[in-house]
Amino acid sequence: MVCLLFLSLFAFVGLGWAKPIYDPVQVHLSYHGNSDEMVVTWITMSKVDRDSYVVYGEDYTNLTMKATPYHIHHFKVEGIDEIERWVYKTTLTGLKERTIYYYRAGNDYKLSAVYNFKSLAKDMKEYTVCIYGDLGLKNGVSTDAVIEDAQDGKFDLIIHIGDIAYSMHSDKGRIGDKFFEKIVPISAFVPYMTVAGNHEHKYKFKHYKSRLTMPSNGVDIHDNQFYSFDLGDVHYIGLSSEYYGYNWIEHIKKQYAWLKKDLEANTKPWIITYLHRPYYCSNRDGHKSDCTGEDNEYIRVGDGEIPGFEKLFNEKGVDITFWGHKHFYERLFPVYNNQTFYQPLNVYYNAQTPVYVITGCAGNRENHALFNDYIVPYSAIRSEDYGYMIMKVHNGTHIHLTQMGAEKGNIVDDLWVTKEAGYRPGVKNAPVTGRKIDKELLRQINDKQDW
Ligand SMILES: *[C@@H]1O[C@H](CO)[C@@H](O)[C@H](O)[C@H]1NC(C)=O
Ligand SMILES: *[C@@H]1O[C@H](CO)[C@@H](O)[C@H](O)[C@H]1NC(C)=O
Ligand SMILES: *[C@@H]1O[C@H](CO)[C@@H](O)[C@H](O)[C@H]1NC(C)=O
Ligand SMILES: [Fe+2]
Repeated sequence: MVCLLFLSLFAFVGLGWAKPIYDPVQVHLSYHGNSDEMVVTWITMSKVDRDSYVVYGEDYTNLTMKATPYHIHHFKVEGIDEIERWVYKTTLTGLKERTIYYYRAGNDYKLSAVYNFKSLAKDMKEYTVCIYGDLGLKNGVSTDAVIEDAQDGKFDLIIHIGDIAYSMHSDKGRIGDKFFEKIVPISAFVPYMTVAGNHEHKYKFKHYKSRLTMPSNGVDIHDNQFYSFDLGDVHYIGLSSEYYGYNWIEHIKKQYAWLKKDLEANTKPWIITYLHRPYYCSNRDGHKSDCTGEDNEYIRVGDGEIPGFEKLFNEKGVDITFWGHKHFYERLFPVYNNQTFYQPLNVYYNAQTPVYVITGCAGNRENHALFNDYIVPYSAIRSEDYGYMIMKVHNGTHIHLTQMGAEKGNIVDDLWVTKEAGYRPGVKNAPVTGRKIDKELLRQINDKQDW
């Protein structure tokens, strides 16, 4: 018995040594809105007792610039999903605009491979963003296509609208490790922006909060769940629908107050928001179809003192909102307070409300969602093809959206969103109505899911 225990301990230590515990892995980039900066985040399996840093420069044979982590995060979960990792968060500074930089992340034991990225610019003219929700390790159908496009230099930014890896904490965090390693050909080359989905909820979003580095929001909540940044003609706002899904009332209120101020301070022609759960759709899965479930209604209209998003989006002229969560593609006609706006003839020119797009079909172990037989009046197009959105920002009046099918490379949807210079969407004098939220039901629905 003693002997066995000794042996297994020995085997464990042996494995430990064989494992590259100081190797920098899961290297990824994120953009925080300053064109002369880029943030690099990576992980090691063990605590490194020597210096950690990124070396970078324009000449890959001579990486002369050096940045050290502003934060080394020791992250640990105990119990059945026990995990311990070290996360390094580092800002590269002094970047010239639209310049290719080479970099290696790591420490005095080991540096990563040489990766590269093209820096962004304050006044990016035309540029392209790839957007998707609900991409998992298993059945991650879109991963290869996005890798190919990212490696071809087609994207300037990626936005993953929540539900990441399925799930980061699973199998003692190894699903998260494998997922972030698998997407390195995307995320070490193109800034990878995220918001949290319900799959990130476990352990109070600890994996999501620890493994990623989104811009800070100036509020005393630093959990990567809400923030904004500018790029070219667009003001981007990432938001948490999960505060609603799990009824974190204080967080809902703080996020809302921040959002209101953030929208009021905006100077860009376009405002684009993204959050995980939709509040309009025509699916049929589980509790309630048509996105009129407790969570969707709560996010849309709030409940009493607790505000939802629809009214504020309308008042401040949000142009486009991207959602995930439902595992399909659906584009909506302009809709406000459950009322569809079919006028003018091209409803996406000077659209009266935000243009809502659900792109939650990147692929994961939960497969497809089903559509309702009854198509809601505001549903413009829907598709079950696995895929991802490519958004090309042309200028302050023209944005082009293409939803790509990942398996056949087909074009699922193709659309211009255009407006007169200076136009802001908004339905005047319209009330927002909704029903009272059954919070007990909300809790039951979210608790019983096996995320
Ligand atoms: C590397 O870069 C530095 C600073 O830019 C320069 O002074 C040095 O000559 C370069 N070394 C080589 C071998 O190119
Ligand atoms: C929204 O409108 C649809 C039909 O247009 C209706 O079936 C549904 O009950 C309405 N929902 C709410 C919350 O008013
Ligand atoms: C904006 O982009 C569209 C599409 O590329 C182009 O037709 C239009 O002329 C551009 N407008 C300005 C002001 O550059
Ligand atoms: Fe989800």
